[in-house]
Amino acid sequence: MTSRSLINCDCKDGFAGLEDESVDLILTDPPYLKEVWEGAYQTLATQGARVLKPSGYLISYCGHINLNHIMRIMDDAGLAYYWLFSQANHGAKCLVHARHIIAGFKPIIIYQKPPVKPLNRITLDMITGQRSKAYHCWQQDIHEAIHLLRTFSKTGDLVLDPFTGSGTVPLAAKALGLSYLGFEIDPGTHAIALGRMDQEPLTWEAFV
Ligand SMILES: C[S@@+](CC[C@H](N)C(=O)[O-])C[C@H]1O[C@@H](n2cnc3c(N)ncnc32)[C@H](O)[C@@H]1O
Repeated sequence: MTSRSLINCDCKDGFAGLEDESVDLILTDPPYLKEVWEGAYQTLATQGARVLKPSGYLISYCGHINLNHIMRIMDDAGLAYYWLFSQANHGAKCLVHARHIIAGFKPIIIYQKPPVKPLNRITLDMITGQRSKAYHCWQQDIHEAIHLLRTFSKTGDLVLDPFTGSGTVPLAAKALGLSYLGFEIDPGTHAIALGRMDQEPLTWEAFV
């Protein structure tokens, strides 16, 4: 496993190959499917707490309905709550039938492996992105990943996305000159991510 690879595997196996305190930052978007989301966040929290370096960030998209449950999972793993970011939803908005609420933003939780240390730059907790679904139906906008990585990473960091999907986070990390590692269980989606990594030009200015 190199520090610039995307691997087609279950993230449990991917995590098993990582040493304790070997990752600087995790930025990810776990599956929301009813049958798997809870186990996915549990693996993310427990393994994230193990592989992150002290004061490393764990940043994750979350669904609204399970937000409190997901935060409990993070707390129970020994991670420290840092902040909640909002990602404004542009274009089509989602009506959450179970609550009769139209979701205008996506929550993004920021946790930190203790000790908590403040960012060394000042940032706003609201992100605006664009609807981007060209590569995958669950794809997130690369502008969001670039914004989050520019805010929470530093030169030379290793960024991990254990639920890589179409590769948005690794692509953003590559564009910013960071090391990256991604795990994706679905072979077809993994192939899409590998294809995106070859895009040129790969400077973050190309995406903003
Ligand atoms: C919400 S999508 C991520 C989309 C991504 N943010 C993007 O921009 O394309 C979650 C991804 O996690 C993958 N996945 C689900 N369970 C997994 C597991 N146990 N290990 C690795 N990947 C998994 C799914 O196949 C899916 O591609």
